[in-house]
Amino acid sequence: MKSNRILPGNVNIREATEDDRQEAMRVAKSLSPRWFDNIAIGTSIPRDLRIQRTHVAREGGRIVGFVMHTTADDKADIKWIGVEPGSQRKGIGSELYAVVEDELRRAGVREIRVETVSELTEYEPYERTRAFHEKMGFHVEKVKKTISEDTGEEFYMATYLKALPRM
Ligand SMILES: CC(C)(COP(=O)(O)OP(=O)(O)OC[C@H]1O[C@@H](n2cnc3c(N)ncnc32)[C@H](O)[C@@H]1OP(=O)(O)O)[C@@H](O)C(=O)NCCC(=O)NCCS
Repeated sequence: MKSNRILPGNVNIREATEDDRQEAMRVAKSLSPRWFDNIAIGTSIPRDLRIQRTHVAREGGRIVGFVMHTTADDKADIKWIGVEPGSQRKGIGSELYAVVEDELRRAGVREIRVETVSELTEYEPYERTRAFHEKMGFHVEKVKKTISEDTGEEFYMATYLKALPRM
């Protein structure tokens, strides 16, 4: 299903074209290094942009945000979501998420997962990320200790879940 919602403030969400995917990479780079490390920017996001379902937010024709997800059976994973620093806190992330959730709900998906840095790891940038996921209706299912492949540092990752009731 193609989404093409028009939002207030000249913001529009659509499924990414090839050109949009390159622009989404520019947005991802604008979120590095605070949120996305070298491996994310150099390897994971470029690879995932080629293979994962991707939606972008355009503000006045310019790509300012993206969300990527995968689906297996009746479960889906939000793999990456990002909104350019200058366009954050204007409802764009919420709308990107809502478009994906709406599509997944209609397709019969029953649960959405997203992983992010846990509150057990003190790091200010991810406070807003967790606030965002919680606002979208996710709750923490589990937390695991992990080691950054990029820096070798230990940190905690939280898996957030949201159940989607049958329509
Ligand atoms: C997470 C992110 C995508 C949210 O996008 P956004 O467009 O700024 O989010 P919204 O404006 O739709 O915010 C929705 C809600 O999230 C919460 N939130 C978002 N930014 C927040 C902030 N800076 N401080 C506190 N709460 C915040 C609020 O509850 C907000 O609702 P409100 O504005 O009515 O209070 C954005 O902050 C971002 O790109 N972060 C960096 C990348 C990242 O962490 N990605 C996730 C890991 S893959």
